[in-house]
Amino acid sequence: MRKQIAAANWKMNLTSAEASTLLNEIVAAPIQLKANQQAIFAVPAIYIPLAIEKLANHPQLLVAAQNCHQKTNGAYTGEISATMLASVGIKHIVLGHSERREYFAESDALLAEKVNAVLAIDSTPLFCCGEPLLIRESGKQNEFVEAQLINGLFHLSAAEIVKVVIAYEPIWAIGTGKTASSEQAQEIHAYIRSCLANKYGNDIAQEISILYGGSVKGANAKELFSQPDVDGGLVGGASLVATEFEAIINALK
Ligand code: 13P
Repeated sequence: MRKQIAAANWKMNLTSAEASTLLNEIVAAPIQLKANQQAIFAVPAIYIPLAIEKLANHPQLLVAAQNCHQKTNGAYTGEISATMLASVGIKHIVLGHSERREYFAESDALLAEKVNAVLAIDSTPLFCCGEPLLIRESGKQNEFVEAQLINGLFHLSAAEIVKVVIAYEPIWAIGTGKTASSEQAQEIHAYIRSCLANKYGNDIAQEISILYGGSVKGANAKELFSQPDVDGGLVGGASLVATEFEAIINALK
């Protein structure tokens, strides 16, 4: 059975004291996770040791990084490798968020290298994809997202792809308060799963979690997550408020 996941993406938010308070509130919250469910916190890299310490006694509350460099080590000032992240206990790394693609010019080819780097240290890439508004308005979102999958992920073997979590995040819904309707989310998630099935077979496609991201809140999470191909969410703004993220976690199937 594939995992149902509520993933928080804090992006570049919170001071150390605020991060500490939020994590304290999360661990104190009455969160009920079933065996197939996880909550993952993609915190700014500088807060990873803090988050690991705070969540240490909660095996289903995991810490992730928001990015990594594609190389193992070397003269890349300011960068952090997947190997370094693994050495402090990180097992999940978000890759290819639309903000990284747009503001840091991350290409599909670069992301394919990063995916390899994360899998090489036996960690899980949370691979983001999703179309901008103009593409959605032209009705070409399926082709757009399929190309991101082909170019960023489909070089992987079947044994490798099952280790990946995919996050579909339509750019027009990120931080805008506009959410894809549950029908729109289900439609494209089903399309993503059909691409996986065509490439790797249906059994493997059924194993891969596909998260929805874009203005997920406590109030809309249950409806979105109730869709058969929506296996949870990748959450920005609402993950910075403990009660909101708690409601999102409790909305998982
Ligand atoms: P919001 O939930 O703030 O729309 O952000 C979504 C996102 O980008 C998560 O990665």
